[in-house]
Amino acid sequence: MGCTWTDWSEHYNEGRGFRRLGDQEKGLLVEHAPAPEGGRALDIGCGTGELSVYLTSLGYTVDGADFAEGALERARAEHAEVEGVRWLSLDVEHGDLADLAEDGYDLIVLRLSIAFIRDRARVLRALVARPRSPTIGEATGTSASPAVSLSQTSR
Ligand SMILES: C[S@@+](CC[C@H](N)C(=O)[O-])C[C@H]1O[C@@H](n2cnc3c(N)ncnc32)[C@H](O)[C@@H]1O
Repeated sequence: MGCTWTDWSEHYNEGRGFRRLGDQEKGLLVEHAPAPEGGRALDIGCGTGELSVYLTSLGYTVDGADFAEGALERARAEHAEVEGVRWLSLDVEHGDLADLAEDGYDLIVLRLSIAFIRDRARVLRALVARPRSPTIGEATGTSASPAVSLSQTSR
């Protein structure tokens, strides 16, 4: 499969997804990224929204952003009852970041999506150039060996 937003949408419209969020990933988030009071998280390339929804259960208010409409349609339909999450249509690399929270995020996650962003340094700089200093997390690996790498930005 290619990597344009239409390719991704087709993938989701066919009812497919990606590796489910595992218990180890969940445990690592609980341990290393507890939600502060009023915590806000950004899930870039949120797909059908499983991680966004999990982060709401940890106490975060979440923006789940993806450029594939097929993903967002499923996220909205599959998690219609979930409060504390906004589903945003956004190409994080080429789009306008104006819809993101003006006062920034405490946690930014790019689970299985950072590999598809070409100019990562520019995108990450733009995302952290906001009042809060977020922890940035990326999850990689197989369900047998998930790895969540989290780094605290300092400016
Ligand atoms: C491998 S999927 C992972 C989806 C989800 N994070 C998960 O863990 O199941 C990568 C996701 O990144 C999204 N994506 C890729 N490039 C993007 C971009 N420039 N802006 C926003 N989303 C993007 C795709 O639409 C896709 O939903």
